[in-house]
Amino acid sequence: MHQDCEKILLTEEQIQRRVQQIADRLNREYAGKNPLVIGILKGSVVFYSDLIRKLEMPIELDFMAVSSYGAGTTSSGFLKIKKDLDKNVEGRDVIIVEDIIDSGYTLAKLKKLLYARHPASVKIVVLLDKFERRAVAIEPDYSCFDIEDEFVIGYGLDYNEQYRNLPYIGILKRCVYEH
Ligand code: IMP
Ligand code: MG
Repeated sequence: MHQDCEKILLTEEQIQRRVQQIADRLNREYAGKNPLVIGILKGSVVFYSDLIRKLEMPIELDFMAVSSYGAGTTSSGFLKIKKDLDKNVEGRDVIIVEDIIDSGYTLAKLKKLLYARHPASVKIVVLLDKFERRAVAIEPDYSCFDIEDEFVIGYGLDYNEQYRNLPYIGILKRCVYEH
């Protein structure tokens, strides 16, 4: 285990098993369709690459990078698009893949923004759901794990751009971010 980790919350095996279950559900829901699977950079890349390899229908890939600006540590401000999609989503079945839903501001604004482009449907898949922290009325359509309000790293998730490459999800030691 990495020295900055308090403990491992989810092992590689637990993650893979759960990602397969979510993929099975997507395979049933999107059978015969050709969804556009949108990964939100950068946090979702590891989850995204595991998930898409478990999907059996034809899919197209696209990516978006966004950042939320607001007061303090919450993402309550407006959503800035740092990298927009390459594809036109009009008439498409869109699946948004995100690492974690916390306050919900990011995904609520993203969903609204995509709906304005007239897709056929939009569904949200998240790896982690910090449900206790929700500040806006939005729920993911598919969530792999509900977690407590603790800062987690690994499997794509970062603190100051570090730890994304850890193969498991761990709780970051408080002494790393509380000085
Ligand atoms: P929301 O708009 O508050 O839902 O923000 C979600 C974003 O906050 C995620 O995309 C992550 O980038 C970040 N985030 C929230 N909690 C954590 C965490 O525990 N570890 C790493 N990033 C987090
Ligand atoms: Mg993120």
